[in-house]
This record gives sequence, structure tokens and C-alpha cells, in this order.
Amino acid sequence: MAIRLGDSAPDFTAETSEGTVEFHKWLGDGWGILFSHPKDYTPVCTTELGRVANLKGEFEKRNVKVLALSVDSVDSHNGWINDINETQSCTGNYPIIADPEKKVATLYDMIHPNALDNLTVRSVFIIGPDKKVKLSLTYPASTGRNFDEILRVIDSLQLTAKYQVATPVDWKQGDDCVVVPAIKTEDIPAKFPKGFTEVKPYLRMTPQPDL
Ligand code: BEZ
Repeated sequence: MAIRLGDSAPDFTAETSEGTVEFHKWLGDGWGILFSHPKDYTPVCTTELGRVANLKGEFEKRNVKVLALSVDSVDSHNGWINDINETQSCTGNYPIIADPEKKVATLYDMIHPNALDNLTVRSVFIIGPDKKVKLSLTYPASTGRNFDEILRVIDSLQLTAKYQVATPVDWKQGDDCVVVPAIKTEDIPAKFPKGFTEVKPYLRMTPQPDL
């Protein structure tokens, strides 16, 4: 069954390239990303996994743990990680789930047979500290994901979890934010001491509150 935003992220235990992972326990109190790849030793996946390894510091800064999935074995993953390290100038630093029986892939509805027979598409789930799904993305096998965008979404999710703001189109760290519609305009000054601009009664902008 499809997993929707706000649903509890299904828990599982799986073998990975770094040993057994009990998903919820492994996540602990922080944020998590679970993302799938069609298959080991495929070109686009190789570039994606290398990029994620090289972004380790960015994920750590945001208290996000990263877990990949591919429907091959641990032995296959370990050989492939050597290639990824060699070709993408990185060091594998996060686990890749071995899912030859497609148990986790099925649990997370990562197999879309009309798009890609019997392999996972490029799914991404961002999971909050409450173990709820905050974002899901699905890309086809032919298109590598943009992990700068995934970091940008995490920044937005973490900001909007703390403050009554939303982030507008193309928002990035430091840009003005939208005051959520639930706040009456007369209540904004008390909640947002940095000030606000009323562009329209329903569009009120305020400087990013945590800077
Ligand atoms: C790739 O990762 O390059 C890939 C995987 C499956 C189908 C097409 C491309």
C-alpha cells in the first residue's frame, strides 16, 4: 500500500552493508532518509551513492541518518561500494540495505511494475524524529536525484517544525518565509519580532526566524 505523508514509517529489520539494521531503533531520535536504487552496478545509482557519501557532513549537521536500499545481496553491495569509492572519490559511510527478497521494497511500495519491472524505482522518504513520513519523492530510473534539493527540503522541514512559517517557492536558507495562514495578521508582531510585510492579506512574509 502506498505510504502517505504523515503516516508512520513502517519499521523493519534488514541486513545491510554495515550489518543488521533495526530501522526505528537505528534512527534513534533524529531524522532519517531512506532511498532506493534500481540495482547494484548501474551507472546513475553509482553517481547518486557517491554524492550522498560526499554530503555526509551536511547530513550530520542536520542530524539526519541516511539509509540506501538496493535489491541485491550484501556481497554484491560490498563489491559495488569499492567501485563507488573509486569512481566518485568518496568513502562509503552509510549502510545499503540488501533486499533480494524485496521485503523492504514492498513495504515501502518502491516497486512500480509499469515503470520498471521487478526493480525499485528511485524512492526517497524523509522521516522525522516522530517516525512519521515528512516527504516522499519518486523518480524514474533514468533520472538521478538532486541531493541539494533534498537538503533544502530538510532545511524547510526542520524550520517549519519549529516555527509557524512555511517556505515559499525556491526558498533557501536565509530567505524570507511565509507566515502560516492560521496566524492572524494582528498577532504576527508578537510572534515574529523581526517584522513582517503584508503583500496581500493572505501573503505575509517574515525574515527567517531562527537566524
Ligand atoms: C542506473 O542507475 O543507471 C539505471 C538503473 C536502471 C535503469 C536505468 C538506469
